[in-house]
Amino acid sequence: MAGFVKNSWYVAGWSKDFDETLTPLEITGQRLVVFRTSAGDIRALEDRCPHRLLPLSKGKRIGDTIQCGYHGMTFDSDGRCVRVPGQDNTPKSAYVERFPAYDRNGIVWIWMGDPDLADSSAIFDMPEFNDLNWHAHQGAALHIKANYLNVTENLVDPAHVSFVHPTTLGSAASEDVPVHVSTAGDVISAWRWIRDAAPVGFFQKFGGFSGHVDRWHYYHLHMPSTAVIDFGSIDVAQDCAEDDRDAGVRIFALHFVTPVREDYTIDHWMHLRNTSLGDAEASAQMDAMFKVAFAEDKAILEAVHDAEQHPQRRKPIRIAIDKAPNVYRKRIRDLIAEEATEDLGDPTHSSFINHD
Ligand code: FES
Ligand SMILES: [Fe+2]
Repeated sequence: MAGFVKNSWYVAGWSKDFDETLTPLEITGQRLVVFRTSAGDIRALEDRCPHRLLPLSKGKRIGDTIQCGYHGMTFDSDGRCVRVPGQDNTPKSAYVERFPAYDRNGIVWIWMGDPDLADSSAIFDMPEFNDLNWHAHQGAALHIKANYLNVTENLVDPAHVSFVHPTTLGSAASEDVPVHVSTAGDVISAWRWIRDAAPVGFFQKFGGFSGHVDRWHYYHLHMPSTAVIDFGSIDVAQDCAEDDRDAGVRIFALHFVTPVREDYTIDHWMHLRNTSLGDAEASAQMDAMFKVAFAEDKAILEAVHDAEQHPQRRKPIRIAIDKAPNVYRKRIRDLIAEEATEDLGDPTHSSFINHD
């Protein structure tokens, strides 16, 4: 089993999807109950009563506390036990863990690792979220019966587009165009330009292009599992420089990949665009097109996952287009190893158990 990177912010869902209801979720194999306090703050607690382990999500809200549905132990929104029916004292170990959680840009993020390391300034962001020249539109959540590594790897892999998405995002014109790869900090990028080719289905529809275009595809993967796909097209006559992509019809397709369990992954997807601002009809049409494309990815990824469950008599091979996925896998292995070997007794480590 591959394991998970825990010290990271993962997407639990869109902000609009959470209210005071006790919502059960699972992220990196950890069951959570997520809800809003009466003040509207988002909370994520361990979904496990410390008594007989009934999920707290099966209990009930009493004000901002949760009463367990089995014997009524009650916990506040920080996870502290405030009542044990039948006794006056509350034992020290009667608590549930609280996971740091934030709303940002209409998205709920939860930190699954060491709470002392949670830094809200490290939550994924980009200026286009709050730029009037851009339109942000939340799509949906794709549920995939596959390991998250396969899902995320697919999002730093422009080469599959010609074959998996021939009617929407790709075409045969890009089959043999080489992919460039680079890294900067915690971002792995793979990109290519397809110059002077007929527009693909998406840009015939939304760019109004009829003649040839230059088309770009930049896949930026922010470790461990947020993908930003910058893709667009521009009239070939404009001879667009690589850094001048705002001059064309430009879309950022965002995928927030949340590992649920080893064999289950949720991809919350949305987009930011510099065209059809405020046009709800265009948003709906784009969603419809994305849904076609992502159903194609889901079918491939679930079939690959299924194939992986069978014994392999030979090692799978990797080819020239796999540079970015290879870098990604190595980085994930390193991050998981780093977390596993973290020396909690290191005197420079800031978290001590204080008993003063
Ligand atoms: S299982 Fe929760 S109070 Fe008994
Ligand atoms: Fe795809």
